[in-house]
Amino acid sequence: MISKKIPHLFYGGDYNPEQWPSEVWGEDIRLMQEAKVNFVSVGIFSWARLQPKEGVFDFAWLDELLDLLHQGGIGVNLATATASPPAWLVRKDPKVLPEDPNGQTYYPGSRQHYCPNSTSYQESSRALVRALAERYGQHPALVSWHVNNEYGCHFPACYCDVCAENFRDWLARRYGRIETLNETWGTAFWSQAYGEWEEIFPPRKMPTHPNPTQLLDYQRFMNESFLRLYKGEVEILRDVTPEMPVNTNFMAGHKPLDYFEWGALQDFTSHDAYPDPKPGEEGEIEGALANDLTRSFNKSVPMVLMEQVSSQVNWRGVNTLKAPGQMRLWSLQAVAHGAEGVLFFQWRASRAGAEKFHGAMVPHVEPAKSRVFQEIKGLGEDLSRLDDVLDSRIRTECGIVLSYENWWALEAGSKPRTFSYFSLLKENYTSLWRENLPVDFVVPGEDLAKYRLLVVPSLYLFRDEWAEWLRDWVHAGGVLVVTFFSGVVNEKEHIHLGGYGRPIRDLLGLWVEEWQPLHDDERVAFRFEESARREEAVYFTEKIHLEGARSIARYTEGPFEESPVLTVNDFGQGKVFYQGARFSADLQREWLGKLADEIGVQAPLKVPEGVELTVRTKGDREFLFCLNHQKETVAFSLGPLRGRDLLTGQEVAESLSLPPFGAAVIEKQGNEVKKEG
Ligand code: GAL
Ligand code: ZN
Repeated sequence: MISKKIPHLFYGGDYNPEQWPSEVWGEDIRLMQEAKVNFVSVGIFSWARLQPKEGVFDFAWLDELLDLLHQGGIGVNLATATASPPAWLVRKDPKVLPEDPNGQTYYPGSRQHYCPNSTSYQESSRALVRALAERYGQHPALVSWHVNNEYGCHFPACYCDVCAENFRDWLARRYGRIETLNETWGTAFWSQAYGEWEEIFPPRKMPTHPNPTQLLDYQRFMNESFLRLYKGEVEILRDVTPEMPVNTNFMAGHKPLDYFEWGALQDFTSHDAYPDPKPGEEGEIEGALANDLTRSFNKSVPMVLMEQVSSQVNWRGVNTLKAPGQMRLWSLQAVAHGAEGVLFFQWRASRAGAEKFHGAMVPHVEPAKSRVFQEIKGLGEDLSRLDDVLDSRIRTECGIVLSYENWWALEAGSKPRTFSYFSLLKENYTSLWRENLPVDFVVPGEDLAKYRLLVVPSLYLFRDEWAEWLRDWVHAGGVLVVTFFSGVVNEKEHIHLGGYGRPIRDLLGLWVEEWQPLHDDERVAFRFEESARREEAVYFTEKIHLEGARSIARYTEGPFEESPVLTVNDFGQGKVFYQGARFSADLQREWLGKLADEIGVQAPLKVPEGVELTVRTKGDREFLFCLNHQKETVAFSLGPLRGRDLLTGQEVAESLSLPPFGAAVIEKQGNEVKKEG
């Protein structure tokens, strides 16, 4: 439980009352009660309202509002309000404004227009945080702190002169001697050698390919710059309110910040998820992935869906509505993946500003006549029936390795082809998701004891010590799948010489000599050794030399004809599979699913395609979530499983029928049920 003040799943959203006259607030609270809202995030963009001038704070409105919320029985996730600096601060010090790699300044008029290394921004934001913490730290409505908002969302890296100076200091601390930097950055190449720290720039606009290590270091430096901002705020909050939970909201697929590092500093993790509901986009996969990713960033604290939309966003070219029932389904999906709260951007739809066409819990039309508000009320009712799942957890036996350093390096360009790391992660995730196998994302070095199957997609940047980490786990019986273009460079982005994959050569039982990347319309045929079944490789192929591993499939054409494409190596008690090419999405699913099945990692039930299942457990209680993402009714057998659907209160046995976008949350009963899995 995140806070004893709310012993329920959190339900609510971002609440921006400063956009409305105070007469509206009373109605807001009445409607919140009607919808069973118990938690709102207040003040995320309120800096200018809270501090109209330097040194002048106006808290009267927030005093009144928090009292009203408290009287209404609604808990507050109070924002530190630092995500959009006020106009007076920029006027006082224009160096607050960030600059892109082309030296273009980004001006006020939207939001997030600050350089993370600006001392004016740091000092002023911290003063605001202290004032808020001191004023509201003991307020009975306060449940948690919402620090800033989506760090780095619009402006993930600043390249201004202040950042340049800070970068030089960071490098000097990291490398000590300029010679070490020269060696690490490989500056012997293209006459890039530096004699003094002052000669170094951020990777601004350059004539051609930038130095890859310079780029990588800049991403590390920017991640740390933003993390320093976060820590600066948190230090104040912990100082004034040591017991109050602290959190900042993530965006699951956001590349610039190493969320494993950030996750470790959260009392609960949270994220904002806006999958495209356009039919055919399979937004439910993106949603599942986003929840699992966020839960994975810190596996020992609760997770919350901090933002989603009730109906449609306003920032795509064409903003498809969630179909009736889909908002409820995707909300329950978040809970199915471990969320302890379901929240929205935002409570009441804005009447002015750039987000006035963004959906909200309370739309522009009269709530009583609004489909959206009726669905919001229905969801409040549903969630209120799920108190029992609070504090239950997802048990996972499959992991997918994710390294941010690798993400930054792999996508930096000047490679055998362009790579999209996220799409490779997602493809492997999707394969397991379609088989209803729960997945964690795992950072290199993390404890692997609970996993039986670990997939390592294209881990191009590979630190030597990661080999040891994998070796121990495989030796003890783990089943590892490594895919193409792994183990190629070290953390300096220097090649591991002597055959690609060198750090894990013994583990893979092979080495890679060369590769042939493929264009979108190119395919290379291969054949499975045993079944003689024919398939085609896409995207990337490699020439593999076996050194102990056995071939499972071989190319039947192309430059690597007769050499293996898929291999297996016995290692201690475990096995290591190497996939030297990208497969079609269908084949990837089929072979990973079969592999999981063979080692006894199985879904809780066999269900029709498009039905998602997850299990949350608490002690010996088990809650089976069944979600129908199809637009048709589906029915399936429950086998020996019996239980009670917490959403309807009805007993279920033998079979279950789910309407389009329907869901059930079955608390299992009886021992025969547990043996069955
Ligand atoms: C999020 C942001 C919210 C709102 C929302 C719109 O990225 O945190 O403030 O802008 O997007 O979809
Ligand atoms: Zn800057």
